[in-house]
Amino acid sequence: MGGRDFTCALDAFGKWHKFELDSDRGAICFTAEFMQTGFFNESTKAGTVGAGMLFSETVPPRPLAVRLRAMTAPNDNAFVNTISVGGQHVALTDSPDRLAFSLSSLAVRGKLRFDSSARYPRRALYLETLGSAHPVPRPGSQTPLGLSIAVRTPFMDQSEVSVYAWSGPTTRELLARLPVKDRVPYLHSFGVLRRAVLLPLQPLSVDMRPALFGTPLQGLMRELSVNTTFVVLPLAGGGTTLRTFNAGGRYFFTHVINTYEEGEGDAATLVFDACVSHLNPFHSTAIAIAAQRNKTRRDAGGAMMHARRFVIRIAGPRRGEVVSSLLSRAGREADFPQIDSRYRGRKHCIYWAVLWRADGVAYGAMAIDRTDVCRGEPFPSEPTFLASGEEEGQGALLVTVLNGTSGRSSFLTLDATTMQPTLEVPLPVRIPFTTHGQWYPPGG
Ligand SMILES: [Fe+2]
Repeated sequence: MGGRDFTCALDAFGKWHKFELDSDRGAICFTAEFMQTGFFNESTKAGTVGAGMLFSETVPPRPLAVRLRAMTAPNDNAFVNTISVGGQHVALTDSPDRLAFSLSSLAVRGKLRFDSSARYPRRALYLETLGSAHPVPRPGSQTPLGLSIAVRTPFMDQSEVSVYAWSGPTTRELLARLPVKDRVPYLHSFGVLRRAVLLPLQPLSVDMRPALFGTPLQGLMRELSVNTTFVVLPLAGGGTTLRTFNAGGRYFFTHVINTYEEGEGDAATLVFDACVSHLNPFHSTAIAIAAQRNKTRRDAGGAMMHARRFVIRIAGPRRGEVVSSLLSRAGREADFPQIDSRYRGRKHCIYWAVLWRADGVAYGAMAIDRTDVCRGEPFPSEPTFLASGEEEGQGALLVTVLNGTSGRSSFLTLDATTMQPTLEVPLPVRIPFTTHGQWYPPGG
């Protein structure tokens, strides 16, 4: 706009895309329009990208006078996620500012501010600077839990994470508060259990001070030379205790897939599935517009987001041990996961995610992937082809398959053209691998 280009995909003006599925008319009504945010409206009026926090600066950069107004600008480009709270639709991002909007007209009604209330006591000297774009309902409840990160003024190098029940558009109730002495964390999403939340503290701290001088958000993320830690923060009335676990490596987080408790007694664990990377994804080529437009650059690198499971031992002699394993396929990038929401907070098997490098090479080779983490890796033996038509390859494949997770074998028939299973029969014995099976027709 006005001869200035955004450089980060997370900065462009928010835009609505609404799909209404009209079963009566058998039609899909599609609406697309820019969000009428303060940021968009001020920019449109000025004819160029206006004041506000950006992940990275425009090209050419905005004038210094505009950049210095970053903290006092509308900062309402809240296009990451939407939620319905108490009958009000709300647009949000990782900032404390939320926008009320009309689902029918998509009109932006303005910023929502939480009411002052004894149910959410504010702390003197603390300034809310970050939030989470992914509120999550507590298992068994419809009330979403929100998250707020407040920095301690005037030094701004310590913080507090507050978890609240978001009971109405402007009302909230404090459920837990965590002082963080060594950093200002960045939590795009977090895990929710019935009695606690799981906060993945990635090895970075957001130093807001340079923002006063116009430094964009990417420049505020300072990486720390520590491992990721998992903080299990008990919720009010939860009857559990605060615990911190070393993740055993440096993991950066975007989206949580699911969090649940599994096992009892000494075998009790927390299972935390999330999309992670070993490099900060908010510095990745995946969000740099210039890199996205250059095949060599986008194929060369990136944060390599992938789905990973962390099993955290919370009892017994192995208490504190964290074992992680890859959920998505090696060499593929996976993010933006979904599960069947009825399984949130309890053991799930299936998740869907967007894949990049689905062919193992090209970043732009994208797919939607369905993964059944309970099914385990199949270990098939040599297939036997059984023709049943005139065309080459038309028929069935017969094969035995060992399930790597359950250790059980099945006899499987597949449509040899589509490779879809047509029959699966569990076997009473385990078959690791067979050599050459042969088909003998009746009497053959
Ligand atoms: Fe997100």
